[in-house]
Amino acid sequence: MKIVMLGAPGAGKGTQAKMIAEKYGIPHVSTGDIFRANIKNGTDLGKEAKTYMDKGELVPDELTVRILLDRVAQEDCKNGYVLDGFPRTIPQAEVLDTELTKLGEKIDYAINVEVPDENIIKRMSGRRACLSCGATYHIEHVPPKKEGICDKCGSELVLRDDDKEETVKNRLNVYHQQTQPLIDFYNNKKVLKEVDGTVDMKDVFKAITDILG
Ligand code: AP5
Ligand code: MG
Repeated sequence: MKIVMLGAPGAGKGTQAKMIAEKYGIPHVSTGDIFRANIKNGTDLGKEAKTYMDKGELVPDELTVRILLDRVAQEDCKNGYVLDGFPRTIPQAEVLDTELTKLGEKIDYAINVEVPDENIIKRMSGRRACLSCGATYHIEHVPPKKEGICDKCGSELVLRDDDKEETVKNRLNVYHQQTQPLIDFYNNKKVLKEVDGTVDMKDVFKAITDILG
């Protein structure tokens, strides 16, 4: 099963993608997490990606596509995957589509997690992220057991550099201009499913599993 998660920054794509990955036994592939791991490790890729991410802009398609295609070519992606944060532009979606077609494959579901912009900014300021293992928390909705420490790996939790209010506003603009058109793209392919992302995360997940079966 190959799934694409769509939705604004902070809609809950990562939260839901992790639960989907666990339930269906497929890898969770997040381009944002891959970039953040590279930034943390000080790689050249990380250095380049950071210049865009800190401004809330997209990393260039060419670089992002190369990273994503490398990742999904790995053995653990053989039986499917859930993509979170990719594709994010029409050219990215077209490359993915072309590559899958060559293999006789396709995206089975594109799940759009809908959350209005007003809710997003509030959510982001409460988010805390673990840059070591990619786990995500929220100081009100999903607090860690011990404040500031990741339950899963014991690392320190941080407010992401791009979760500052001004940067979030820019990410929302970029989303509306460059990523929202993907809703039509996947609707035309008859794989689009929409879920309400404003309800409790367990209920969002229930709506998703009702779709995936
Ligand atoms: P990326 O890491 O993908 O960030 P994003 O799309 O902006 O999305 P987020 O991770 O911020 O939000 P999310 O939808 O995963 O929400 P979450 O589950 O954490 O990308 C970062 C940057 O990398 C981009 O800006 C770009 O520069 C670059 N990049 C990445 N991919 C790229 C690509 N393909 N092309 C080019 N550039 C790329 O939830 C948010 C918060 O809300 C959490 O605290 C969570 O606990 C809470 N929450 C979740 N669900 C609920 C709920 N139902 N109710 C209440 N709270 C909830
Ligand atoms: Mg995310």
